Amino acid sequence: MENFNYYNPVKVLFGEGKIAEIANYIPKTMKVMMTYGGGSIKKNGVYDQVMDALKGMNVIEFGGIEPNPHYETLMKAVEIARRENVGFLLAVGGGSVIDGTKFIAAATCYDGEEPWDIVLKGAPVKGALPLAAVLTLPATGSEMNNGGVITRVSTQEKLAFHSPLVFPKFSVLDPKVTYSLPKRQLANGIVDTFVHVMEQYYTTSENVEIQDRFSEGILQTLLVVGPRVMADEQPNYQDRANFMWAATMGLNGLIAVGTEQDWSTHYIGHELTAFHGLDHGVTLAIVLPGVMRATKENRKRKLLQFASRVWGIDATLPDAAEQAIARTEQFFNSLGVKTRLGDYGVGMETVERIEKRFRDRGNYAIGGIDDVNVDNVREILVSRL
Ligand code: NZQ
Ligand code: ZN
Repeated sequence: MENFNYYNPVKVLFGEGKIAEIANYIPKTMKVMMTYGGGSIKKNGVYDQVMDALKGMNVIEFGGIEPNPHYETLMKAVEIARRENVGFLLAVGGGSVIDGTKFIAAATCYDGEEPWDIVLKGAPVKGALPLAAVLTLPATGSEMNNGGVITRVSTQEKLAFHSPLVFPKFSVLDPKVTYSLPKRQLANGIVDTFVHVMEQYYTTSENVEIQDRFSEGILQTLLVVGPRVMADEQPNYQDRANFMWAATMGLNGLIAVGTEQDWSTHYIGHELTAFHGLDHGVTLAIVLPGVMRATKENRKRKLLQFASRVWGIDATLPDAAEQAIARTEQFFNSLGVKTRLGDYGVGMETVERIEKRFRDRGNYAIGGIDDVNVDNVREILVSRL
């Protein structure tokens, strides 16, 4: 285990009815900007619950944050936040709304010329408006981490930024708000969570027993609860609760401590979204099997552990590693997610554009371990055509 500092300041308000408590944690003197997406919260009653909870407070709204939130849209919110002297941001939505709101928080206080530099160049975030979240889609972990992923439409770029200043002050996780999610988004969330865990677990790190067991526990929870969530005609509260907490635990930093990480599946996936607008979860389901095959020799130990502990495959079998990869892909397919580039009309031209992008960026390793790199990203993507 490597040395680490672990810090997570997010207060989690978990369970049915918890939205009613939010006003207890927002300073009464501050003007609040409530941010949201394309309007799902107005149809499923979440908007009304939030507004009821904020009664008597000074609240303005900013709606219309897209999936894969657009820099261009977020900058409109920044302008309003500055003009209106907003003191607190409340994100009500999925990862896109929460990520977008983290960017608004940082960009509003940014004193450089071009807030895009926070994302593009990692310009330091020296200040940020305080923010909180009401999560409506279990998937990204954004509700309990300090990262955000922003898309710039004009340049077809999708890039991540991090700052301890954008941890939410609190996040509400009410499993009931997931009842209105379409199956496609539930599947995306299950895949996203699965792959978050893999990017922190499937490495060459040894002697990280606790982290490995936490990770395997989250994966096994998804294998049990995921199919139930997908099949339910009537949402089951306990299944939704377990799924929601698994998603948060998948990317709140806990399983990442003291180990290597390799975010190559995500970084390659972001390019697919940037060029083709594919859902985030879909891109991961396409890329992960290719990354696993390309790295199976270098990460053999962990792959066999994954095969045995997560899938119950006899790790002494000669094809145990391949079986584990195939079972993983079949699991994504069983959720209704297709896992080939061709299923989405993506071909060789995109493979070449992505390879070139990674080369132009000048880093050899794509995600943290150099067995996925600018020299084999093409082969990985070709294997997924
Ligand atoms: O916009 P509305 O109308 O709210 O509809 C959304 C959107 O169309 C809908 N939705 C959300 N909650 C709902 C609902 N519909 C009905 N009922 C509800 N309760 O779902 C659609 C997708 O929402 P979105 O927020 O885009 O999905 P997700 O949570 O999967 O977020 C994806 C974004 O997060 C980034 C991704 O790259 C992508 O941009 N990620 C953020 C991470 C982080 N901050 O740590 C890590 C992740 O790896 C990921 O990269
Ligand atoms: Zn993700």
